[in-house]
Amino acid sequence: MAVRRLNPEQPAQFAFTAENLAWARETIAKYPEGKQASAIIPLMWRAQEQAGGWLPEPAIRLVCDMLGMAHIRGMEVATFYTMFQLSPVGSKAHIQVCGTTPCMLRGSGDLISVCKKRINEHAHETNADGTLSWEEVECIGVCANAPVVQVHKDTYEDLTAEQLDKLLDAFLADSKPKPGSQTGRTASCPSSGPTSLTDATLYDGSTIGAWKKRFEESSGGAEDQPKESTPPSALASPAHKEQVATGTSPASPTNAQSGSAPLHPAALTAMANAGLVKELEARGGGKALSAGELDKIKSDMIRDRAIAAAAEQAAPAIAIVQPELLKEPLGGSAPDDLSLIWGVADKMAEKLNAMGIWHFDQIAKWTPENVAWFESQLDGFKGRVTRDKWIEQAQKLASGWRPESKAGEKPKG
Ligand code: FES
Repeated sequence: MAVRRLNPEQPAQFAFTAENLAWARETIAKYPEGKQASAIIPLMWRAQEQAGGWLPEPAIRLVCDMLGMAHIRGMEVATFYTMFQLSPVGSKAHIQVCGTTPCMLRGSGDLISVCKKRINEHAHETNADGTLSWEEVECIGVCANAPVVQVHKDTYEDLTAEQLDKLLDAFLADSKPKPGSQTGRTASCPSSGPTSLTDATLYDGSTIGAWKKRFEESSGGAEDQPKESTPPSALASPAHKEQVATGTSPASPTNAQSGSAPLHPAALTAMANAGLVKELEARGGGKALSAGELDKIKSDMIRDRAIAAAAEQAAPAIAIVQPELLKEPLGGSAPDDLSLIWGVADKMAEKLNAMGIWHFDQIAKWTPENVAWFESQLDGFKGRVTRDKWIEQAQKLASGWRPESKAGEKPKG
C-alpha cells in the first residue's frame, strides 16, 4: 500500500451545507450515548462527496470536532482507508484499480497500463483537463470477478484493457456505465454460467413447502423435534427463566446470565424455523404473510417456547436412583453384546460393562430414576437413553429377539 499523505494544498476551511449538516446530526443521533465516534466514516464520506470526491484536511478536523474526537483520530481513519481520497481526484471519475494477487493474476497490470496511458503516468494525478485520475488499491472484495476497478461506490468487474478503455470513454461522456460484471455473469457464479441451483422450479414457487415435508418426514414429525433434540437445560438459564416466566418480554439470549447453559439465539431460531413450522402456519391463520408479520410471529413463538422450556425446567427434578449393578456377568456367564442396542457403540458397551452393566435384562428393568442415575454419570448424554429407546430394545433383546441389521445400525424392525 502506498504511503497516504494529505495533499500539500488545502482549502482554508470546510463547512457542511445546511442539508448535509442536518443529515450529519441525524446520523450522529443514531449512535448510543458515548459511541458517537462510530459515525466518523459516514460523516467523512459525506464530506468527501460534498468536496468533489476528496477529503480536505479541514473537513477531517470538522468531523472530529463534531464527534468530540482528537484530530489525530480522524487522520488515522482517513489515511487508513483507501475509500478516502487525500488529494483532489478527477472530476468525472477516480479509478481505483485493485492490484492484489487475484486481480494481478487476472490482468490488473493491463488495467494499470490503460490508466497510465489514458489518465496520467502517475497515480493520484489527474489527466490534462482534470476529469480523470487513478490509483492502485488493495483488495476491494470482489476477487471472484477479478480483475476489478472501483469508481466511487461501484465496482466494474471481469475487466479487460479494452473494456476499461470503453469505461473511461463512458465516464468522459458523462454516461454512467452499468456496474458489476462486464461479461454479464450473475454475481460471482462461474464464468461459464451457474452449475448449481439450476433447477428452474426453485424459483417459480412450485416447490414451496417441499423442504418442510422432507424435514417432517425425516424428523418423524416436526412438532416433536425441538422437545427431543433440545434438552431444556440448554434453553434457558435461571435468570432467563425468571425473566420469561413473567411473560413480560421476549426471550432474549443477551439477557441470559451465568448458571445453566445460556439461551442461544441459534437454538431458538432453529426451533422457530424447524420445529414449529405448523405452529407458524397456524398462528398466521394460513394466509400469506409479509416478512414483518413472519418476524413478529417467530418472535412470539420463540418467547412462548422459552417460557414453556423454563416451566419444564422448573418442574420438580426426578430422583436419581442407582440401578442394579454387577461386579461381573451373572453366574460367570459371558456378558450380552450390549452393542446390539442401537445407540450403543462398542466404546459405550465397554463403559456400561465398567459400570457393572453386563446384561440386556439389567437395562430392561431400568426405571426413569435409574435412567436419571445413568445419565448423571456421563457428560452430554441427557436424553439419549429415552430417545434411542434403550429400555424397549433391551427388553426385546432379553427375550431373544435379535436385530436383522449389524450391531450399531438402526434396527429395521
Ligand atoms: Fe482484487 Fe480482491 S484481489 S478484488
